[in-house]
Amino acid sequence: MLNLKVEEILNAQINKEFYSAYLYLAMSGYFDGIGLKGFSNWTKVQAQEEMDHGMILFNYILERDGNIDLKPIEAPVKDFHSPLQVFEMILEHEKSVTSSIESVANLSEDECDRATRHFIDWYISEQVEEEAQVLDVLKMIKMFGNECTILYHIDKELAERKYKAHDYEE
Ligand code: FEO
Repeated sequence: MLNLKVEEILNAQINKEFYSAYLYLAMSGYFDGIGLKGFSNWTKVQAQEEMDHGMILFNYILERDGNIDLKPIEAPVKDFHSPLQVFEMILEHEKSVTSSIESVANLSEDECDRATRHFIDWYISEQVEEEAQVLDVLKMIKMFGNECTILYHIDKELAERKYKAHDYEE
């Protein structure tokens, strides 16, 4: 049986993951609209991964005989102006997700819920990977993004990203 405080924070995390999916989808739409299909692909793949993150939490709560409590998902922001501005926004967003994952880890420790503490380690590693991926793109844009031909090549590279379903592995 899942501790009630832990159950609450895990449900809140589901909401954050699905909000993230919405945010990336909004970004994907923006990039498609300005003709950057590769950027659009990258953010769309990320939206799919965020839905996986939400579903893994959903399945975990059920596995622990907890209650699912889904709240409304906020509309994503939509003031997108350039690849640089969007990727700066992504980095800030992922940092805030990392901090909320750390709150889950801290609470599960405080509540002596070792199973959740162990489970959430996967998300901690995932956040390290995500922030690193975003930083890679951000650095490329900062170095070369003002030159149209280079932006075209970055777009080509981001078009290569493929969705692969995320599986939580013990
Ligand atoms: Fe699910 Fe981008 O964190």
